[in-house]
Amino acid sequence: MSSLFALLAVLGSASASVVPSPSTPSTLLVTSTAPSSGLAECLKTSYYGTYGGQASTQDHIYLPTQECLTGESALDGLSAGSLVPLNFENGNDGSRIVWVGQAGVDQEVLSLQNSEDAWTTISEVSREFALLSSDDSAQQVLSSTRSSSHSQPIRLLHQSPTSLLLHVPESYLPMIDTFLPSHLVPVALPSKPLPALANGWEPVPSQFARYLANVTKHLRFSPEVDKIVSDGIELNQIRRDVRWLTGEAPSGIVSRHSFTPGAIKAAHWIKDKVEATGANCTLHTFIEGFSPNVICHYPSSLNSTEHVILSAHYDSRGSFGSTRAPGGDDDGSGTGHLLGVAHAIGTQGVKFKKQVVLAFFAGEEQGLLGSHAYAEHLHEKNTTILLQVQADMLAYHAPGEPLQIGLPESIHLPEASWLIGNLSQIYSPELVVGKTAACCSDHQSFVSYGFPATQVFERNGWIADPFYHNSGDLSQRDNYDFEQVVSIAKVTLSGLLTVAGYTLAEGA
Ligand SMILES: *[C@@H]1O[C@H](CO)[C@@H](O)[C@H](O)[C@H]1NC(C)=O
Ligand SMILES: *[C@@H]1O[C@H](CO)[C@@H](O)[C@H](O)[C@H]1NC(C)=O
Ligand SMILES: *[C@@H]1O[C@H](CO)[C@@H](O)[C@H](O)[C@H]1NC(C)=O
Ligand SMILES: *[C@@H]1O[C@H](CO)[C@@H](O)[C@H](O)[C@H]1NC(C)=O
Ligand SMILES: *[C@@H]1O[C@H](CO)[C@@H](O)[C@H](O)[C@H]1NC(C)=O
Ligand SMILES: [Zn+2]
Repeated sequence: MSSLFALLAVLGSASASVVPSPSTPSTLLVTSTAPSSGLAECLKTSYYGTYGGQASTQDHIYLPTQECLTGESALDGLSAGSLVPLNFENGNDGSRIVWVGQAGVDQEVLSLQNSEDAWTTISEVSREFALLSSDDSAQQVLSSTRSSSHSQPIRLLHQSPTSLLLHVPESYLPMIDTFLPSHLVPVALPSKPLPALANGWEPVPSQFARYLANVTKHLRFSPEVDKIVSDGIELNQIRRDVRWLTGEAPSGIVSRHSFTPGAIKAAHWIKDKVEATGANCTLHTFIEGFSPNVICHYPSSLNSTEHVILSAHYDSRGSFGSTRAPGGDDDGSGTGHLLGVAHAIGTQGVKFKKQVVLAFFAGEEQGLLGSHAYAEHLHEKNTTILLQVQADMLAYHAPGEPLQIGLPESIHLPEASWLIGNLSQIYSPELVVGKTAACCSDHQSFVSYGFPATQVFERNGWIADPFYHNSGDLSQRDNYDFEQVVSIAKVTLSGLLTVAGYTLAEGA
């Protein structure tokens, strides 16, 4: 049993009497009915997102005002759902409502991972997690990361067979991952309603889908693109970089959990490496205390305002109760792949016609916090994004299976996934293209803001990596396959070249 277990107290579901401020939405609406054009206007403007990797068990969340709910027809058309009175802030005081759901781990791996802890099923977790004690010992452990006092506990707001909704005070947000068993992942709700449904109901405006469908339709093998990706992506370089990030090579890093010195060190190192390939990188602090996003920008050679974004998260998560997190696969592989793409851009002398961003996010493991802040910022600046692709876990290759590239089953723009699938067949035909319900990576933040986004993953189907969210997630182990990382990097780089357009520098 983990020592943290002792810090958690089951205090039932009694709720404190907090007086809601008039501006605070007073009800949480969780429904299994997907948004549609028939929704009441006051629901469309109180939409907080769709959660879960499997379409059949997704939660659609709204925070309507009392006024909205008392309107006769507000709930018409919703076939099932729950209304939960909400007496807490979301965002204004730094606290957040956090959805917790299944990452999509293979049953076999799940049974391997199950220890004697009771933290296995959603209902067991919710029982243990119902309320987190704010006693002195808990404060001592957590005050090593935050100086603020724990005046509020974590509260369970809602529970379904496949998900939980928690109210997480600011002081617990940095560590929320360490309180969850490896197969459960958090996604923080935004602090303001999402814009996606406010204009009609299209999650991603249809012109972006049409644009990508047209790109796919006209896709042809290009010997030049093939040469750039084949010559540019180098396995040895990716392996060296991944091993530096995990500490397997002497970097001094033992963890890249967002609240460790290793993450800060990694951020500065990534910035230097990518800048050496011709980009400008900025360290973007999104919440005080979290390690920053590293946002690297290659300017457009034609003054275009259109953007293409590739991303990964460089932060990582350890075993239950631990912040020791070398993150070799999750997401050292996606981060190493992005460094491989940057290296190729540099060595092959690629100049993009459109703006290209390589984004390395932090705070992913605490609920997609870094990517959410960045996507919100891009939305506020009215940035045009033609394609966003997140690479999260590329290296695990189960014995006896072919090399694979998994595209999302839900929470993506299908046209974005089809383009990546078609590029894969052209430039990395060794990969079998398929679908995964593995859940909840940073592309979700882009989908939330109506951007055309997708993800690439190591497998078609469930997560099979036995070292998923484990402090032993290193690269020197069975079935960690750098060949698969290289193949997937060729696909994402071909996507950048195809959608952003490019020229090659003389003599490169
Ligand atoms: C579709 O793509 C082709 C080839 O890139 C381009 O010539 C054409 O203008 C595009 N059509 C539309 C409607 O965007
Ligand atoms: C990076 O930023 C510096 C300072 O703003 C600027 O001088 C330089 O041209 C930029 N380089 C690129 C590749 O954008
Ligand atoms: C880009 O815009 C700047 C300022 O608007 C202008 O000076 C420059 O000539 C433009 N470059 C190209 C390639 O159009
Ligand atoms: C973004 O677009 C909206 C609506 O067109 C406009 O009101 C707003 O000023 C724009 N913001 C920026 C930063 O351009
Ligand atoms: C290729 O694109 C078409 C749509 O143009 C899509 O139906 C198909 O599934 C894509 N192939 C792959 C392997 O993703
Ligand atoms: Zn991940």
